[in-house]
Amino acid sequence: MDAASLSTPAAPFGQYPPARRVILHLSDTHLMGGNVPLGGRYDTAANLARTLAKVEGLGVRPDAIVFTGDLTDLGEPAAYRALAEAVEPVAERLGAPVIWVAGNHDERTALRRDLLGLEPTEEPVTGVWDLDGLRIIALDSSVPGWHHGDLDQGQLDWLRETLMTPAPLGTLLALHHPPLPSHIPFFDILELRDQQRLADIIAGTDVRGILAGHLHYSTHGTFAGVPVSVAAATCYTMDLARPPAEVNGMDAGQSLNLVHVYDDTITHAVVPVVEAETADFFSEEWLAQMAALSPEERLEAFSRKR
Ligand SMILES: [Fe+2]
Ligand SMILES: [Fe+2]
Repeated sequence: MDAASLSTPAAPFGQYPPARRVILHLSDTHLMGGNVPLGGRYDTAANLARTLAKVEGLGVRPDAIVFTGDLTDLGEPAAYRALAEAVEPVAERLGAPVIWVAGNHDERTALRRDLLGLEPTEEPVTGVWDLDGLRIIALDSSVPGWHHGDLDQGQLDWLRETLMTPAPLGTLLALHHPPLPSHIPFFDILELRDQQRLADIIAGTDVRGILAGHLHYSTHGTFAGVPVSVAAATCYTMDLARPPAEVNGMDAGQSLNLVHVYDDTITHAVVPVVEAETADFFSEEWLAQMAALSPEERLEAFSRKR
């Protein structure tokens, strides 16, 4: 079944058929055990709840929900349990699997045991999901004991092997540290190291996109010719309106990304998590009226300047 959007008309209004798959991309929840305010300032559980409320209000039935790391701030077992309690009911109502990716603030043993129900080992947290032909591969760029990113040889070998067989709709990689330069110079100290090794592996494969987090602001680029999309955080974001040398966090600007996978393109739309009144909006009835018109009649009704 193609990704169903509850409010999208069955027949498209434009040149593109409906997306083949829809992914929700969230990042950097940074939950704290006992919901202690992060940095003494941020209510990360409340901010996640606000984000999840937006997720449920989207009117979209996603094929998967991807969290690209820094799931907890300190790797506390209670924080992983709180995360599962917050997210799993939402995912269940939407009928979507959750893809958890490890970040530098996570601790592999607790993540495995308290979120995934696995053996508490220090093994990288990786996985492959087949979303009816679209493959998602989760990589673990965390380095135990450190905040910078790296991919160990075992993971790289596994990735190369996995990518030998292409997927019908191609592959998205999900990892925490984006293979991109940052607008904030000191963030590059904590970048993904030795990126050329990853570039060599994905070049010429069916990888169509890379989902990442870590930066706490939304940004986009290309890596080895592959589009990279970084989702901002749900917990707090970087105030890029300040000079790059003194950028700092703010309890504003949180968002999630809506990823639409088409045959020839993938779009990443940033959904703001903000409480603001909307002006008059287009109703389902109005959409139904448009759907009943011919393409020419629609142009006349909606495009012609009055
Ligand atoms: Fe983070
Ligand atoms: Fe991070």
